[in-house]
Amino acid sequence: MKLNTLGIAHQFLAARVPEGGLCIDGTMGRGKDTAFLCQLVGPEGKVIAFDIQEEALASTDALLREKGLRERAELRLESHTEMDQCAAPGTVDAVVFNFGYLPGGDHKIFTHPDTSIQAIGKALGLLKEGGCVAACIYHGGDTGYEERDALLEYLSGIDPKRYTVIVADFRNRPGDPPIAAFILKAV
Ligand SMILES: C[S@@+](CC[C@H](N)C(=O)[O-])C[C@H]1O[C@@H](n2cnc3c(N)ncnc32)[C@H](O)[C@@H]1O
Repeated sequence: MKLNTLGIAHQFLAARVPEGGLCIDGTMGRGKDTAFLCQLVGPEGKVIAFDIQEEALASTDALLREKGLRERAELRLESHTEMDQCAAPGTVDAVVFNFGYLPGGDHKIFTHPDTSIQAIGKALGLLKEGGCVAACIYHGGDTGYEERDALLEYLSGIDPKRYTVIVADFRNRPGDPPIAAFILKAV
């Protein structure tokens, strides 16, 4: 495992996503997380991935084809706030978010606190018991700190009787390393 935010998130997901599972990638970007989830769910599973940029869909489509994973994914050009239209409550094993801008894309298009928080709320409703959300929060630079601060405040307020929230950051690394946040739904 790489000792970075994404590596920690992937290890967390690998321990929880079953073969044949149903997962959602709320921010498909270049498709790395979508591909990773497709591998975890295997040929009988399914991944539904969202992004608002055509460029993200094209990149993800190409990556999945290259890896022979395209049939396991449904790629949707719409906001992650629509995810409750695509899966029934209590049916999803894991939802992934990578908040920030498209790597190598337009830095002016990035996720925003209001829609990100709305999407997490919908993700919680879709999770099975024992299911999880894994989110990487990119902050600083062109993205700023507004979304990070709003997300951390929101996560602190999630009902502890129904969900466990864990936040991991790199306290002694320079700059603004991304933050990993995990939400586990109680069984
Ligand atoms: C940090 S990138 C995701 C990186 C991705 N996980 C990967 O493997 O490349 C964040 C993505 O969120 C997308 N995004 C921004 N607002 C969104 C929204 N409301 N719904 C879905 N995706 C959104 C951006 O277009 C961008 O591609």
